[in-house]
Amino acid sequence: MATAIRFHDQHRQAHSASLLEESLRGFARTPKAISPKFFYDRRGSELFEQICRQPEYYPTRTEESILRQAAGEIAEIAGHNANLVELGSGASRKVRLLLEALHPSSYLGIDISRDFLLSSARRLAADYPWLEVHAACADFSQPMNLPEEALGEQPLAFFPGSSIGNFDPQQAQAFLRNLHGQLPSGAGLLIGVDLVKDVEVLEAAYNDRAGVTAAFNLNLLERLRGELDCDIEPGRFEHRAFFNEARSRIEMHLLSPEAQRVRIEDEHFAFAAGETLHTENSYKYSLAGFVALAAEAGFRALAAWTDRRQLFSVHYLQRD
Ligand code: AVI
Repeated sequence: MATAIRFHDQHRQAHSASLLEESLRGFARTPKAISPKFFYDRRGSELFEQICRQPEYYPTRTEESILRQAAGEIAEIAGHNANLVELGSGASRKVRLLLEALHPSSYLGIDISRDFLLSSARRLAADYPWLEVHAACADFSQPMNLPEEALGEQPLAFFPGSSIGNFDPQQAQAFLRNLHGQLPSGAGLLIGVDLVKDVEVLEAAYNDRAGVTAAFNLNLLERLRGELDCDIEPGRFEHRAFFNEARSRIEMHLLSPEAQRVRIEDEHFAFAAGETLHTENSYKYSLAGFVALAAEAGFRALAAWTDRRQLFSVHYLQRD
């Protein structure tokens, strides 16, 4: 019976240095930008969970319903005794559908947010006593080495939520190639990918009426203020999110309505009135476009499922 989880910490040293270094580098750039991975401190992870429950944010519930309907077919392709590896495990709700349908022999959750990862892995271990549960704190936007003992012989990687969309297509390629290098031939990759659709639907999803996405975006500045020696005032910035059709991506920004200067450590950065800090891209794919991207990284499409409105897709890929 699994009473404890096995924890693989692969992130501790790199962590605080990279927030400072990447902030200094990102604020010095034109246009100013910072990686969306910094959204996910404890508060940010909680806000993201709230976003997932907003009526406008269709990806989460749509992906869940696709998984619920496809679970039997997924289990048929994956077979018994898979070693399930969830990338960006967060609150790990969707994976419960898979645990129940697949009955894998082990589960490895990987996430950048340590506290969140540990509490959700512990919950899974308590709820599924037959399951061997591993947790690895890692930044999967960087090349990573998955802990071999937790990968097992039949890994099925699960990357839900269209988190792949937060990489630009080149980074997505690099991520998939890295994963290709970590997985044995024949391993599966079950991946959620958000689809291109009406601009109104897309933009509403990132501008929910309750203001949760705005709070999530602005929390990044709260985090900088809490963790770095800096004088940023989040109240002097505004949330902006819009669809950039030419690049097929939602862009999120923090806009400075007035000219201002901010200090991080010993460095000062000037914002002109209307200038933004670019905080996130969320790429939207066509079914064929994503299959082509995955093929280039060495993953063959075995199956894909979508909802009736073609809002979202789940792909079953196989490492060649
Ligand atoms: C995690 N990721 C897939 C979300 C997205 O839709 O790009 C993050 C998010 N940003 C704003 N709302 C949700």
